[in-house]
Amino acid sequence: MSDFPILDGKRLLLVISGGIAAYKSLVLIRRLREQGAAVRVILTEAGARFVTPLSVAALSEDKVYQELFSLTDESEMGHIRLSRAADLVVVAPATADLLAKMAAGLADDLASTALLATDKPVLVAPAMNGAMWEHPATQTNIGILTGRGVRRIGPNAGELACGETGTGRMAEPEEILAAIAAFFDDVALGSGPLPLSGRRALVTSGPTVEPIDPVRYITNRSSGRQGHAIARALARLGAQTILVSGPTAEPDPPGVQMIRIETAMQMLAACQGSLPADIAVCAAAVADWRVKGVAGQKLKKDKDGTPLLELVENPDILATLSRPGSTRPALVVGFAAETQHILEHASSKLARKGCDWIVANDVGTGTATFGGDRNTVHILRATPGGEASVEDWPELSKVSVGERLAVAIAEHFAAAGPRP
Ligand code: C5P
Repeated sequence: MSDFPILDGKRLLLVISGGIAAYKSLVLIRRLREQGAAVRVILTEAGARFVTPLSVAALSEDKVYQELFSLTDESEMGHIRLSRAADLVVVAPATADLLAKMAAGLADDLASTALLATDKPVLVAPAMNGAMWEHPATQTNIGILTGRGVRRIGPNAGELACGETGTGRMAEPEEILAAIAAFFDDVALGSGPLPLSGRRALVTSGPTVEPIDPVRYITNRSSGRQGHAIARALARLGAQTILVSGPTAEPDPPGVQMIRIETAMQMLAACQGSLPADIAVCAAAVADWRVKGVAGQKLKKDKDGTPLLELVENPDILATLSRPGSTRPALVVGFAAETQHILEHASSKLARKGCDWIVANDVGTGTATFGGDRNTVHILRATPGGEASVEDWPELSKVSVGERLAVAIAEHFAAAGPRP
């Protein structure tokens, strides 16, 4: 699970309408509270059939708003004030019915009235049966709402509560959380030109997969989480970003051009084909070796016996991209995953590979960096004098490491001179 420091101190009004996915909104409230956000909840009558006001109140640590004509509520906080005393209004789950009301401007309960009265941005997380989602009425309503500037996250495809399969599952709490953070990031970035606009970035991520025969392969434990987070963060700062990735379970980062590969040789070809670039960040865990003479047919135990695998060294993509030449990116960043003597090994890697920066991290036993969500890194920068400068970063989520690295890259280019 990721951390989103930007959410600290933000005020959210969460509208929970009546769908089975309402239980996921309880997780969302807890996650938002963990990030330091204040969450005030409007629970519709149908919503209260799926989650209890008591659970909502306990998790949000606030009173739950349900009735439009409750005198007590009106004296404490009228629905107009309620709808405006937030930085962002989130509707999760957003049922087909509530979306229709929002599109039509109906106001017949507290949720729809607050949504009509609000002057704040709105994010909806639709959740419904697949046929309801695909119905032209719902699609028209969503079109109207997005045309008015309402943001949307999901719905996702998959198995639905009704037993059918289709598009209609509410986005997961973690995805909604990321969408909320992305909204606040956009606000923080303002409407001026983005710091990396006009720059091209190339990022490698994930493992590579080296076949032995048509069914077997050699790979590693890289999740791709860090590389994907970097690509996402560079794109958010305006860089035209290409992500060359081995197979991962990570969702495609928004606004990033994906090139999916399996082997190191394919990754190298994809990277070289993506040049020129201003920035290259090699976060992939590239297999050092591939199998020599991959078998064309599945190796058989009885026929082939125990095979002896002969390995050949893979090309070093980072070192290749770092080689001086007309297509060398102006800034090449590599990673060094080390289990001991981190800084020593990382600075010799910086020199050996010829890159400009190394992001060094400890992947020793007990660190859970591989496959985990958090990372403690040190940034080594090559200096003209030969001695690398070192910056230690605190333990951060991989998302935050990506964001901080993208900001450091933007600062580097800002210091280096004007945009091309
Ligand atoms: O040599 P080592 O694998 O420790 O170096 C790690 C760095 O080099 C990472 O940035 C990784 O993406 C990159 N690398 C590469 N091609 C390889 C091996 C490593 O780009 N064949």
